[in-house]
Amino acid sequence: MTLQGKRIVLGVTGGIAAYKSPDLVRRLRDAGADVRVVLTESARRFVSALTFQAVSAHPVPEGLWDASAAQGMAHIELARWADLVLIAPATAEAMAKLAHGHADDLLSTLCLATEAPLVLAPAMNRVMWAQPATQSNRALLEGRGVRFLGPGEGPLAEAESGRGRMLEPLEIVAALSEPGALAGLTVLITAGPTREPVDAVRYVSNRSSGRMGYAVAAAAARAGAKVVLVSGPVDLPVPAGVERVSVETAAEMHAATMARAAEADIFIGAAAVADYAPAEPAAFKIKKSAPAMNIELKRTEDILGSVAALDGGPFAVGFAAETEDVEANALRKVEEKGLDMIAANRVGPGEGFETDDNALVVLWRGGREELARAPKSELAGRLIDLIARRYAESRT
Ligand code: PMT
Repeated sequence: MTLQGKRIVLGVTGGIAAYKSPDLVRRLRDAGADVRVVLTESARRFVSALTFQAVSAHPVPEGLWDASAAQGMAHIELARWADLVLIAPATAEAMAKLAHGHADDLLSTLCLATEAPLVLAPAMNRVMWAQPATQSNRALLEGRGVRFLGPGEGPLAEAESGRGRMLEPLEIVAALSEPGALAGLTVLITAGPTREPVDAVRYVSNRSSGRMGYAVAAAAARAGAKVVLVSGPVDLPVPAGVERVSVETAAEMHAATMARAAEADIFIGAAAVADYAPAEPAAFKIKKSAPAMNIELKRTEDILGSVAALDGGPFAVGFAAETEDVEANALRKVEEKGLDMIAANRVGPGEGFETDDNALVVLWRGGREELARAPKSELAGRLIDLIARRYAESRT
């Protein structure tokens, strides 16, 4: 992504690393960006608004109630103006506010009001960064498509050393300027469970929460792809920059996927699609008169197999959910369905389904890579990096 002509709102929150932010403004402007700065109350204790006004060549709004903004609504004006919102440094408090949707100052309010991508360069004490609360806020934000740059490791304030340093201004500018690993590509992803109706009120389904598939969609969008997410019924927000197509049954997921497969460069089947569906769902609620009942089930269509069989179709990546012989079963699926790659996970009580973290073994003909247990948002980022690499190799 070139920064030439990009309109960037730089949010500065109250950490000692704020002393680097005027230099960051200068470096962003050197790269061709137009930068407007928003300071929190705490940031003003570290660096003055006047400094930022001088380096950005724009006035720095007073706050949420700045009377000089159009109709007194600085948050809306800036939210619409921005192509990108960058917060550097982002404190633990700033992350917590964003994760939980607070809107009590100009920066948090404009972050809620903008459709522009949000990038955070955290800076804090190493213990604060490692805290489960901060890490869970990070996972929440990443799951919604927020991109994190750093923090880096090294000497911190308070004469300590560890992970928590804000990246240097030039590193931030370089990271923002790099085209994502999937820039220019379209990625089609399935996620979540399907529901197969038994009658007018009941269905057959499974335990998929959609978290893994949504994390993969968010990571693909962060990597610069155009992402279409065909999703079964889940209780998750659409990640930033992702187009969601909502479906309920395996047949609907098959139809929605096949309608979009020709435009996709990469297909990732993370959905837990029902393999069988009731053959003849009743249009009414079945009464409980009989002491027992049988439901005849018929096979559903294999979405992943159908996509992989397309002539000139997308690079096909499957998931394999296995309770035993994980790798052997996953490799069999690679051969049977003609896949380019498969991400295998062990599932069972407390594993794979409905959890916040996961571990994967990614397999392809002649290769394998283990992705160690991590929050699904982090794991998805590593999986997308690997898919991007294998995809690029397959084209050369
Ligand atoms: O959603 P979460 O709670 O976060 O849980 C994540 C997950 C465990 C659901 C996910 O990581 C996962 O493993 N998804 C695939 C689940 C699955 O259906 O696996 P499978 O081994 O039964 O199927 C193999 C592959 O074929 C999968 O890519 C599946 O999407 C695909 N398939 C299966 C049946 C079918 N009719 N059509 C398909 O496309």
